[in-house]
Amino acid sequence: MTISAPGKLMLFGEHAVVYGYPCITTAVDSRLTATIEPTGDGKVTIDAPGVKDTRFVDGAITLATGEWHIHHNGFRLSTRSPFSGCYGFGSSSAVTVATLKALASVFHADIDERKLFDAAYNIVLSIQGIGSGFDVASAVFGKTLYFVAGGKVIEPLAAGEIPLVVGYTKVKSNTVEIVNMVAEKRKKYPEKVDRIFQGIAKIVDQAKEKMLSGDWERAGRLMDFDQEYLRDLGVSSEKLEALIAAAKRAGAWGAKLSGAGCGDCMIALASPDKRKAVEEAIAHAGGEVVCVKANAQGVRIDPPARLDSAKRAGEAGTTDDQDELFVVVDRNDNILGYKTRRECHHDPSVIHRTVGVLMYDAKGRLLLQKRSMTKDMEPGLWGISAAGHVTRGQSDEEAAHRELKEELGIDVPLTFVKKFITVNDQESERAALYQGVSDGPFRPEASEVSDIKFFEPRQLRLLAASKSLKMTKAAEQTFHEVGIL
Ligand code: MEV
Repeated sequence: MTISAPGKLMLFGEHAVVYGYPCITTAVDSRLTATIEPTGDGKVTIDAPGVKDTRFVDGAITLATGEWHIHHNGFRLSTRSPFSGCYGFGSSSAVTVATLKALASVFHADIDERKLFDAAYNIVLSIQGIGSGFDVASAVFGKTLYFVAGGKVIEPLAAGEIPLVVGYTKVKSNTVEIVNMVAEKRKKYPEKVDRIFQGIAKIVDQAKEKMLSGDWERAGRLMDFDQEYLRDLGVSSEKLEALIAAAKRAGAWGAKLSGAGCGDCMIALASPDKRKAVEEAIAHAGGEVVCVKANAQGVRIDPPARLDSAKRAGEAGTTDDQDELFVVVDRNDNILGYKTRRECHHDPSVIHRTVGVLMYDAKGRLLLQKRSMTKDMEPGLWGISAAGHVTRGQSDEEAAHRELKEELGIDVPLTFVKKFITVNDQESERAALYQGVSDGPFRPEASEVSDIKFFEPRQLRLLAASKSLKMTKAAEQTFHEVGIL
């Protein structure tokens, strides 16, 4: 069974919330998963590659087997997170919540959301020593919450769709250190710091009202005021200020840091017509645009992967991982951020990086491949020799060699040909084209490729003209780009 819990972003009220004032937090649709498989061997095996600090998972297992009296005869726990170690989306809270919920669900303990929140908050607090618990509340309850420390108030806000833009500074913050630094400051200057907290608390209450009435322009202005207080508190940074200023110059209604500060993410509110400009401005100022939606669902049991994808129109039976992160760029190939395969393949306004390889044999014939019937786009059509997407953290050339190995089972030196943009009614790609020479032997990957064949360029032209070879749109465009068609 797989359980997933969302990440979070603080919208208003960070730091003040630690001292009993309210805040507004939202859950984001980037989800950490915890999978439990009973093994029957009496052992507990943990596979948590992205989790730096295993105390949260250990704490959850100890609490569930102790306080909740969960009995088991061995299990394997695996966690996966798209956001551990960066963004400040709250991976420690999410992994604690997801592990507790997974244990309760698999071993039949009747735990409601409040009990889950209290248990997870106790674990997080006992490890970190400080914290309001808003991140735990977001992981458990999801949506957008008006929250008071320790869960004294957990009130869902029907805030509608939040026009949020998120930029990562690429600098990792240490929340506990920053919260302790603020505590020191408060000891030294109690009046000044408490005045800041009271100011922030007022902003939170006004922001709640504006969000409920959908007045995002005023909510944006309140973000600016909140940011002024946070700057006074000493938790902003040059990088945060640069991204915030860039977002504002590009027309955002307002912008602020989100979370502990000194790094991690900034957030902005922007109208739909300014969104793209704000994202590009953040990217040009050196930030990474993080493509997440607010108001995500709280912790939940995820359906088995295949069933889940079968439910989504057009993805039935696909072997492609729909959550793989692709690189999103502007028309000049500057990175704007990252989006999932699913998002990229259903929105032509999003340009994502792809690579293509033209593989010739010694006689100058070009190798084409027939896409397998399990591909999510254009199954059964003939495409160029090898092609694929550039995933997060990968260069074009690395992606081209990876596709060559994965799809054709070979690797040869490649030379760069050109870059161009292709657009159709479903997607937009920034293609980087490479070429190489090989007579094989090729070992096509059956899940990707159902057939391969060499064609003389002249023969290709005739087949294309008579429409007797069904080609992918990308292949047709590529052949036009290099003058084959
Ligand atoms: C950190 O993401 C937010 C703080 O308010 C700490 C907390 O609420 O636990 C600074």
